[in-house]
Amino acid sequence: MSRVITYDELKAHTQKEDLYILIDAKVYNVSKFLDEHPGGDEVIIGESGHDATDAFEDVGHSDEARALLDGLYIGDFDKDSGLEIKSSTASAQASRLASAQAQQSSSNTLYLVPLAFLGGYFAWRYYTAV
Ligand code: HEM
Repeated sequence: MSRVITYDELKAHTQKEDLYILIDAKVYNVSKFLDEHPGGDEVIIGESGHDATDAFEDVGHSDEARALLDGLYIGDFDKDSGLEIKSSTASAQASRLASAQAQQSSSNTLYLVPLAFLGGYFAWRYYTAV
């Protein structure tokens, strides 16, 4: 059964035999998984008590690793309990959007460069023709 886990609860479960991990607004009980983790138990223990979304995403975990999360899920994180959390999906979307916009604006300004030269050339022709 899923429940809502507060920041205080998250901070109360940081021991190896009773360990909660917060990833993407969801909370997972990883105590039983620690010994199986290919990256070792230390890295996961180090991510307890706070938002582990960036640490989890930075490793570039596989789809298989993500599928394992389903079996460890215990509930959603209470977003109003004092910890500002990240959403990997939202931040990934934001960075994709930002890079698309950057590309668009750079191509917009790039096409002005030959136009400026053309303008300069005709201005030069106009003033030197007399
Ligand atoms: C509790 C959720 C987690 C699960 C289910 C999980 C699962 C896995 C799995 C299955 C792998 C093998 C490679 C792959 O399939 O991607 C892996 C590798 C790894 N994980 Fe995690 N992981 C979790 C959390 C974390 C966290 C919080 C960290 C913190 C930095 C971390 C760090 C690593 C590292 C460094 C490797 C690479 C190990 C190597 O290739 O030597 N993992 N993890």
